[in-house]
Amino acid sequence: MLDWQDGSGTNAVAEPPQAESKDKSHGASGLEAIELGAGRVTVDEKRLINCRADLNQLIPFKYPWAWDKYLTACNNHWMPQEISMAADVAMWQDPRGLSEDERTIIKRSLGYFSTADSLVANNLVLAIYRHLTNPECRQYLLRQAFEEALHTHAYQYVIESLGLDETEVFNTYREVPSVHAKAALSLSFTKALCDPDFKTGTTAADREFLRNLIGFYLITEGIFFYVGFVQILSFGRQNRMVGTAEQFQYILRDESMHLNFGIDVINQIRTENPELWTPTFEGEIRTMIEEGVALEEAYAVDTMPRGVLGLNAAMFRDYLRYIANRRCRQIGMAPLYEGTRNPFPWMSEAVDLKKEKNFFETRVLEYQSGAALRW
Ligand SMILES: [Fe+2]
Ligand SMILES: [Fe+2]
Repeated sequence: MLDWQDGSGTNAVAEPPQAESKDKSHGASGLEAIELGAGRVTVDEKRLINCRADLNQLIPFKYPWAWDKYLTACNNHWMPQEISMAADVAMWQDPRGLSEDERTIIKRSLGYFSTADSLVANNLVLAIYRHLTNPECRQYLLRQAFEEALHTHAYQYVIESLGLDETEVFNTYREVPSVHAKAALSLSFTKALCDPDFKTGTTAADREFLRNLIGFYLITEGIFFYVGFVQILSFGRQNRMVGTAEQFQYILRDESMHLNFGIDVINQIRTENPELWTPTFEGEIRTMIEEGVALEEAYAVDTMPRGVLGLNAAMFRDYLRYIANRRCRQIGMAPLYEGTRNPFPWMSEAVDLKKEKNFFETRVLEYQSGAALRW
């Protein structure tokens, strides 16, 4: 079982810093001219950032954890339209099917996530990919980017199935302050890297890249998604809105893998470049995480002005501090908050989803496999 809360599934290789960590030249892109007769790539040449060795050769592996996550992600493949939305449509259309507070939660969740996954995908493709100079990690990034597209597809599919006002939902991040604040913080982490002249290879730029990874993997995907996940999965636990809940459960499984991959990358970059991680830098990261927790707490209050689904905003205050402490430990930092508790221990079980017999027992159709093609 993949336990995202304990950070198992992350296993970055610890190794002493190598001499080339002092080399401050920025990395290759993979688009360099092919050098005929050049020496073969060795494992020792491979590095997560600022690697000058040929990036188009997957083998030899230096980071087997990245390849393993790529294989696991492929095994977890799913498609949004495999999940029946019929019961959700009936419940949504029934005036007594859901309270106004419950409808608000569903609309806010779809409003936040439908654009948040797009921000994550843009950051992967336009910022992270260019500067992560390792082919096995890039292989995982390509898979993750496709999963982010599937997630946006899933939200669109739910929005369309329920007959929601699509323009209203997709504009939530420009119209609802608690959603806007989260999206704006995520975007602030990508700003420097999207400058076409940005290059890693200096201490300041390498730290900027690490800040981006922490801002997206730990804060956006590791904190900002969790009020929404708990809220929507709570419908499923009451056997209501089961199709929507199942979509979110598949997404949660993918996201726990994204988070674990990000933790491994962050820890490995830190191992290979120990000079980047100073007490001042760690202080900045702690402030970033605190800011993320505060915004997610505000989002919980905004989406739940009253208790609903057996949940209330105070429970989320405990929960967010609990997972923020986990995130700190996962990247080798002391916890931020004292005396935390987890009010939702069932969340770690929700990650362990088996496709053939799923949690909410809605019908899953097989997607078309290669064997089904006709020539
Ligand atoms: Fe996603
Ligand atoms: Fe993700």
